[in-house]
Amino acid sequence: MRLLICRETIKKKVEELGKDISSHYGEKPFTCLIILKGSTIFAADLIRSITSENMDIDFVRLSSYSGTSSTGNVEMSMAELNKFKDRHLLVVEDIVDTGNTLTHFMKTLENIGPASVKICSLLEKKEINQGKVKIDFLGFDIKNEFVIGYGLDMNERFRNLPDIMIYEGE
Ligand code: IMP
Repeated sequence: MRLLICRETIKKKVEELGKDISSHYGEKPFTCLIILKGSTIFAADLIRSITSENMDIDFVRLSSYSGTSSTGNVEMSMAELNKFKDRHLLVVEDIVDTGNTLTHFMKTLENIGPASVKICSLLEKKEINQGKVKIDFLGFDIKNEFVIGYGLDMNERFRNLPDIMIYEGE
């Protein structure tokens, strides 16, 4: 594996994102909707960089891969998702690759009728996503390489690495 983004650079960027998000929402109440599992490490740092006193957090599990294609199926019942009706939502994602997962999830959310939905993603493979999913708060645009660490996994491994690394096989 090869270093792509070191922990110090991540820390600085996450603090910037927290500042931008804080000034965007001000004192308006909103929910950070954290996508499991990859976003957990990022989100834990991000929410501590947000200064709002009217923010809460929630979690959703998206089973993105069924075979080889992203489906964006949500592992939360519609009844449970209904609590987000009329709520300002900030979806927190680790990485947007093809954009399929979030495209489907955004459609599901639209049906619930939140007050607003914004997306914060630590990473985006812009050349793959090609603007399909519009990211309101982005950390880094990265090349089309498979990355691990800082919550991102390869078959559930390497989430615990403190830096973001390019996976080059074993
Ligand atoms: P998308 O539907 O193609 O945008 O993929 C989104 C999901 O695929 C992310 O939330 C990750 O779980 C996973 N993923 C995509 N690219 C990578 C990568 O480079 N490393 C680790 N996971 C990835």
